[in-house]
Amino acid sequence: MHNLLHFHTPHIIMKKILVTGSSGLIGSEVSVYFSQRGYAVYGVDNNQREVFFGPSGNTRWNQKRLVNELKTFEHHELDIRDRQGVIDLVKMIRPDAIVHAAAQPSHDRAAEIPFDDFDTNAVGTINLLEAVRRYCPESPFVHMSTNKVYGDRPNSIEMIELETRWDYHDTSYVNGIAESFPIDQSKHSLFGASKVAADVMVQEYGRYFNMPTCCLRGGCLTGPNHSGVELHGFLSYLVKCNLEGRNYTIFGYKGKQVRDNIHSEDVSRFMWEFIHAPRVAEVYNLGGGKDNSCSILEAFEIAGAHSGKKQVFVYKDENRIGDHICYYSDLSKMRDHYPNWNITISLDETIRQIVSAWKNRLSI
Ligand SMILES: NC(=O)c1ccc[n+]([C@@H]2O[C@H](COP(=O)([O-])OP(=O)(O)OC[C@H]3O[C@@H](n4cnc5c(N)ncnc54)[C@H](O)[C@@H]3O)[C@@H](O)[C@H]2O)c1
Repeated sequence: MHNLLHFHTPHIIMKKILVTGSSGLIGSEVSVYFSQRGYAVYGVDNNQREVFFGPSGNTRWNQKRLVNELKTFEHHELDIRDRQGVIDLVKMIRPDAIVHAAAQPSHDRAAEIPFDDFDTNAVGTINLLEAVRRYCPESPFVHMSTNKVYGDRPNSIEMIELETRWDYHDTSYVNGIAESFPIDQSKHSLFGASKVAADVMVQEYGRYFNMPTCCLRGGCLTGPNHSGVELHGFLSYLVKCNLEGRNYTIFGYKGKQVRDNIHSEDVSRFMWEFIHAPRVAEVYNLGGGKDNSCSILEAFEIAGAHSGKKQVFVYKDENRIGDHICYYSDLSKMRDHYPNWNITISLDETIRQIVSAWKNRLSI
């Protein structure tokens, strides 16, 4: 293992943050956000996304961007399944904060690679938790969880079919789904189950060892730096199809299934708030809420308005296993615990940015 760079001036020692999955959508956004605000950022990634999804999942371009553009970023080529490697790295850095965003992130892909999925999502998470408990237990630990921990149980909520989307008919969910929603006895996909294991373990390290941990149960996290592929990265992939004039395949629910979208910068802003006023064993439904939600059909319209191209698509009657018919987060708890935080980037602006980023990357 190589020596750490020392990012400090003679007078100021910088705070250190360890970010796993740093070449991915969330990890890279968090790295930029914290580096620009004075943190030394230690990124961990091994481009496993390309192994999971093939060449279009390659994240090396993003790794290079961070190394070239950030003054206080250091890349560590490490697989989080390498337990000893993770322990050694945490021991050496002793970070002041940890953001864990490395994962096998697709529920469809997990069924084909169940061992890789579980070893990455569940075992990789305990490798990191235990290393942190041993060497820096007081450091806030932010874990990227997912709304798939709720399995397909949100589909049992009474729904109403509107012209372009499904919505909750049951008024108890008028503001969306809260953190008290049950997580078991429903179908999760193997991905959802491995993320449940990690989510509960992160909570347990908080409760059992009194560590400042939190799980962020994301909906669709998105932004211009996603390497969207069909199996993961809803808006990013949809916009890519739109720009390339490629068919987008809708799987079931008439294309009216509703997704909750949040820009990765608003995700980073929440992490900043938590890390600077941490709590123990917390869970938050991190999403854009009802205002930033859209159905696939609605997303076609917004993307088309920004690109000037009409979306072509094919429809398959069979829905994805465990897919939500309608999901948006109730943001009350996040706003209540962290009043400085709110959504700052609208869905329309997010899609505008994704269109512009793909145009650059695809040279369209
Ligand atoms: N993007 C979403 O819509 C979404 C929604 C809910 C939850 N999440 C969660 O947020 C987190 C980040 O998601 P993302 O969209 O940034 O994913 P991403 O695939 O863009 O980034 C994950 C990064 O982790 C790396 N990685 C994967 N396995 C690794 C391993 N074994 N060792 C080291 N690095 C590894 C990948 O190479 C990739 O760069 C994940 O935990 C995901 O489950 C994402």
